[in-house]
Amino acid sequence: MTDRASTQRAPWRRALLVPTLVRAGLRAFRARGGAWDRYWRGIRQTGAGGEVLWDGDSAEERGWIVGLARRAMDAGLPLVDVGCGNGRYTRALAPWFTAAVGVDVSAEAVAHAERETRADVEALRRTSAAPGEAGAAPRGPSAPPRLSFRVLDMAEAGAGARLGAEVGAANVFVRGLFHTLDAAQRGRLAESCRALVGGRGTLLLVETDFPGSALAYLELLGARGGDYPAPLLRCLEAGLPPPARFGARELALRFPEASWEHVEAGSAELRSAAMRPGQTSTRIPAFYAVLRARPGRRSP
Ligand SMILES: C[S@@+](CC[C@H](N)C(=O)[O-])C[C@H]1O[C@@H](n2cnc3c(N)ncnc32)[C@H](O)[C@@H]1O
Repeated sequence: MTDRASTQRAPWRRALLVPTLVRAGLRAFRARGGAWDRYWRGIRQTGAGGEVLWDGDSAEERGWIVGLARRAMDAGLPLVDVGCGNGRYTRALAPWFTAAVGVDVSAEAVAHAERETRADVEALRRTSAAPGEAGAAPRGPSAPPRLSFRVLDMAEAGAGARLGAEVGAANVFVRGLFHTLDAAQRGRLAESCRALVGGRGTLLLVETDFPGSALAYLELLGARGGDYPAPLLRCLEAGLPPPARFGARELALRFPEASWEHVEAGSAELRSAAMRPGQTSTRIPAFYAVLRARPGRRSP
């Protein structure tokens, strides 16, 4: 079944998706604590064959992101990866900047990021080789203190300014966060990004931008009737916020050209983990943008 065919399935088949959706929603409703922490606490395996839906560990996607960041961002500044999750992209980007900080609202996500980073550094030490994926040699293996992680809600008012006071002007990378936030949170996160980039940094966003309905999105990810792929069911049972589009329209709203220079923007693809054993990753329609703040203007 191609991605295109899945968006054309009969409406009555789509209705069969709903009971599992409701059951998972009820489970999440009864659970305690923050949804993101609940989600990350249950994760044992990340990467292509792992449990984290958006963590496809695709060399192709990573190479594209690292190449774009290197081309667009000032390498003399640190990089902040906002909503870093298990830190896969913080680690991939860190060697190309003066320092990298992965920030996540979930302490459980940060624990994953720190664990995986220690394992990577250990593996690098063993092989004593650190080849760059995007061409020229990076500065070297990313070991603390140049690469660090911290727990922070970046959609909280003033979060970006507080972090900026510590790290100075920075480049900012965001993959897969804006599309999970409500309108007020998106506004505050845009403000945080503005405070972090200051007059010198560059912001790179890569966000899910699926054009169809919520049920069509479940089908794209492999749900059929009551049969949901495990990485998808995990998100629903943890009560993660349902994804919404973040594309050109949302960009214009949150990062208007009067306040932000739109250096480049366009369609992209996020690579998921394998949704079922033996499958390859799903290509999730996405949107990317490279932005710089105009002097003296604030986001709306
Ligand atoms: C879909 S995941 C993407 C993770 C990572 N950027 C990646 O692409 O692999 C979204 C991440 O954002 C984090 N997050 C959600 N709300 C946040 C907030 N207000 N501030 C910081 N991180 C947040 C979640 O805990 C989760 O790890």
